[in-house]
Amino acid sequence: MGDARIGLIGLGTMGAALASNIAENGFDIAVFNRTTQVTRDFAAEAGALAPRITPTESLEAFVDAIAKPRVIVLMVPAGPPVDDQIAALRPLLDGDDLIVDCGNANFHDTNRRMADATGPFLGVGVSGGEEGARHGPSIMAGGDPACWARVEDIMEAIAAKHGDEPCAGLLGPGGAGHFVKMVHNGIEYADMQMISEVYGILRDGLGMGPDDVAGVFDRWNGGPLESYLIEITGKVAAAKDVATGEPLLSVIVDAAGQKGTGRWTAIESQHLLTPIPAIEAAVVARNVSARLEERAEGEAMFGPAPQAFDVDLELLERTLIAGKVLCYAQGFVMISATCEAHGWDVDLPTVARLWREGCIIRSAMLDDMATALGDHPGENLMRTPHFADILKAHHDALRRVVSLAALHGHPAPALSSGLAYFDAMRTARGTANMIQAQRDFFGLHGFVHVDGRTDVHGPWAED
Ligand code: 6PG
Repeated sequence: MGDARIGLIGLGTMGAALASNIAENGFDIAVFNRTTQVTRDFAAEAGALAPRITPTESLEAFVDAIAKPRVIVLMVPAGPPVDDQIAALRPLLDGDDLIVDCGNANFHDTNRRMADATGPFLGVGVSGGEEGARHGPSIMAGGDPACWARVEDIMEAIAAKHGDEPCAGLLGPGGAGHFVKMVHNGIEYADMQMISEVYGILRDGLGMGPDDVAGVFDRWNGGPLESYLIEITGKVAAAKDVATGEPLLSVIVDAAGQKGTGRWTAIESQHLLTPIPAIEAAVVARNVSARLEERAEGEAMFGPAPQAFDVDLELLERTLIAGKVLCYAQGFVMISATCEAHGWDVDLPTVARLWREGCIIRSAMLDDMATALGDHPGENLMRTPHFADILKAHHDALRRVVSLAALHGHPAPALSSGLAYFDAMRTARGTANMIQAQRDFFGLHGFVHVDGRTDVHGPWAED
């Protein structure tokens, strides 16, 4: 019987980084990987951390190496591999052994696994990529508080810190942690898409080379846009291809894939009838980007779309400020809506606080978002006074840039969707009266009258 405080299965990039982080923070850890050589390589490269790491070569040896009641972290690919791993593990465990799924699971799977679990189970979203997993991720947990209490010290120790505050916490029951991580990724998609749309305007509108683009993003990262994604955009633009010395961006195919978390967010929002158009537009944009051949044929048929045009850099910066606020606002509204649907009580300010460091969407704005959401519970972030002022100050820039982009053939789906959402959400009398009437005309679906009556029909019902 071993005495490792915790065990971890799955030594892929993220698993290996997380295991090293746990060991580095003083916790003895047993590790196992389906391919034994991966375990051996990990142990061989552990260096000073080696004394804290017990590499094991069978599930039985792995389970035996962990102190009871056991805590076992799964870092295996999301989907069926998680179910397979749980099925292989449970017969070897005691009833009070805790399994913690730290992969990018779909929260519906986590809900199901928790409901079916024959022992304690936690679903934990971990954000920050390899670097975050190794040196401090943002950790979003879901499940039973008693289960969380068993790993809280480890999770807080390995998490990123904002000042002294660890970016780790239990957000709600069931799949709440994986759900919040999914929405995090939805916001990530939208923010990345808006940035890439502005990059397109710098490149094809203003004709800037990558080094100049890098300079612009570096400068913006020193202002209100300060965030991890703006920071890495500058670094990416400045990077050179090692083989040719050419700008790295010039040798990368413009087609973006996805593992699916952004798509899950968009699908879920449709089920919930919660509008998150900027996030949906970003998912669609990735799918459009993948249609390389069709796009090339389209260019040959209709002529190339993006034309050069002049625009102030300050206008582009203000565009991204407004866009960023709208991305997060949509994500937070989606979290509220889902919590209501599932009876979860996820605290939005806590989510904002957990996202301040470690995760991919960390941003200087998140501190103010936590305050705004705390001061105005239940309010859409875009209507809280601080962020409403930001939108009032900058939506003119977003509007101008979206117009210029459209006039000059630059596709800007996320920016335009963000703007349309902003405008729709400040239009007291929109145009859905026409939709109601049309539905009634062709299907006698009835409409709601402005005087409050429901199921009213138009004159065509008499025909
Ligand atoms: C994170 C990232 C991480 C990962 C996604 C990317 O928070 O650390 O979001 O989860 O980068 O897998 O997702 P796509 O492959 O869907 O872009």
